[in-house]
Amino acid sequence: MKEYKRFLITSALPYANGPLHIGHLAGVYVPSDIYTRYLRAKGKDVISICGSDEHGVPITLKARNEGISPQDIVDKYHSLNKKSFEKFGIDFDIYSRTTAKIHHETASEFFKKLYDNGDFIEQETEQYYDNEADQFLADRYITGTCPHCGNENAYGDQCEKCGTSLNATDLINPKSTISGSEPVRKKTKHWYLPLDKYEPFLKKWILEDHKNWKINVYGQCKSWLDMGLQPRAVSRDLNWGVPLPVENTKGKVMYVWFDAPIGYISATRELTDNWEKYWKDPDTKMVHFIGKDNIVFHCIFFPSMLKAEGSYILPDNVPANEFLNLEGDKISTSRNWAVWLHEYLEEFSGKQDVLRYVLTANAPETKDNDFTWKDFQSRNNNELVAVLGNFVNRTLILTQKYFDGEVPELSELTDFDKETSDKILKLKNKVENSLENYRFREAQKFAMDMARLGNKYLADTEPWKVIKTDKPRVGTIMNISLQITANLSLILEPFLPFTVEKIKKFLNFSGGSWEMIGQKDLLSAGHKINKSSLLFEKIEDEIIEKQVNKLAQTQKIFENTTGIMEQKDTISFEDFTKVDIRTATILEAEKVPKTGKLLKLKIRTGVDERTIVAGIAEHFDPAEIIGKQISIVLNLQPRKIRGIESHGMILMAETGEGKLTFVSPTEKIPDGCTVK
Ligand code: 2FM
Ligand code: ZN
Repeated sequence: MKEYKRFLITSALPYANGPLHIGHLAGVYVPSDIYTRYLRAKGKDVISICGSDEHGVPITLKARNEGISPQDIVDKYHSLNKKSFEKFGIDFDIYSRTTAKIHHETASEFFKKLYDNGDFIEQETEQYYDNEADQFLADRYITGTCPHCGNENAYGDQCEKCGTSLNATDLINPKSTISGSEPVRKKTKHWYLPLDKYEPFLKKWILEDHKNWKINVYGQCKSWLDMGLQPRAVSRDLNWGVPLPVENTKGKVMYVWFDAPIGYISATRELTDNWEKYWKDPDTKMVHFIGKDNIVFHCIFFPSMLKAEGSYILPDNVPANEFLNLEGDKISTSRNWAVWLHEYLEEFSGKQDVLRYVLTANAPETKDNDFTWKDFQSRNNNELVAVLGNFVNRTLILTQKYFDGEVPELSELTDFDKETSDKILKLKNKVENSLENYRFREAQKFAMDMARLGNKYLADTEPWKVIKTDKPRVGTIMNISLQITANLSLILEPFLPFTVEKIKKFLNFSGGSWEMIGQKDLLSAGHKINKSSLLFEKIEDEIIEKQVNKLAQTQKIFENTTGIMEQKDTISFEDFTKVDIRTATILEAEKVPKTGKLLKLKIRTGVDERTIVAGIAEHFDPAEIIGKQISIVLNLQPRKIRGIESHGMILMAETGEGKLTFVSPTEKIPDGCTVK
């Protein structure tokens, strides 16, 4: 393996149009932070770069919806997100932003160089324009009927029903989602990066030279390359972004995915005058931490840009993660189905490491993974409290108790003592190997094995019993336990930085480098330790229930405001055919006395005439609905409601606010027709 002189770690620049949630941390920022902290502990020359991605159409739309400027939006979320990162100990060397002057300059220089080189293709095309909103429409902001399957709600870039990828101009009856008006076609000129030209280079660079990349990353790249690459537009008609540094291009900016990755370069430039050393010297190892939706941009698009520019290095690895779900469901900003970092920080103040730990233990490294509050609780209680906290606490308390807070001398070592101490170095090597290969959950597990080792050592040596007969022996046991604790403070630092700070304070230990892990004399005999307190506390059921209820509430609020309920579990066709739904007519309707809510209805079903009791009295006047044709479930088991036998159920559609309407045929048809 090549020995690199320095490391450049980038973490995907999150869009500054919303707050960060646990999915962001788990997928990108905790792993990148672990990796960076590990390299720093090794004494490597490393910088960790991040910032806000502040351009792109969604930001302009959000601003429009909220009646404020895009700059207001990005200012708000840039500062919120920057703070969240800081509070979680995500220790970037710089957290910049793509609206910064230095970024506009850097991106412009980059673009200009490619432009002057003739690396772009210039092409005039027709694109949809929204006359009302006075802007060109990105494909995503046009809907219409899919020419392949007839889905009326296909997007301009893809029909989500049949999966076909589309051009907006393919849509039948296109509509702008911004103003609702019918867009018109308008000629416009754009610049394209001919990705097809870089295909041979990418094929060799990825498929042959980087077979070591994670399979999810390699696989995605391979499938893109197998499909064949197309030129990709690098400009947009928009008034928010980095203006094109080309004459006569008013109203045009760079495509957000062109300027965003250049943001890594701009931020490095902002950080240090030595930035070129990090970006241009092949002795730098560059690693991009990203989520799976960014793979194509970091493995295909950005490398092609860098290659075209010519003076930059390429990433050595792109260890992208899959997605984290929440309680079995996809995290969704629009549905508010998320655990937001700023809220966690308020509700679990001081417990940043607990979340870091759980997210790493459950990291979506090879497949999508699930965060549940129950798992959060059990990992806290059974691992952090019961293993790590318990070991460290016992060691410190017993040292205070038996040796007045002084590290005791070692006396004769048993085989078990030696074996235990030797295992520390083995664990270091295991953690290191996992980290070098971007397997963070495995690495954290091995690091925690050191605490498990300590716990077992104390349980087996039982100093609390031995103290009655052999104090020097207890001195040895506590010395070894204290050395394990000091080693833990080194090996856990990348994972649990806040906890490690505490351990070091308790030990009165200033720490040390990664390479010191394994040493059996990190603390010398006679060294005085400090008073300690508990590292972690148990999380009770009520706290977890509160979070689960909060999510359930969120779900309800969402349903109430949109009226759209989540899809229920899939059923088989056979299950569906068991339900006998028919057209029917209401013949009579009267209120059920003393209930307020119920109507007793006489229904003609085509098969018979029967009574159905329905909870709709608050919504309909009985006189108004007589003669109305409706749909009913015919074969529902009869039920007694307020003493009246009800035979079937009326089908109603209910909005989020609880408004009811009948599900009726759109034209009069005989009663008893099946609805299928
Ligand atoms: O997916 C995202 O959140 C993008 N804003 C990531 C950009 S990464 C980089 F290229 F800046
Ligand atoms: Zn379709």
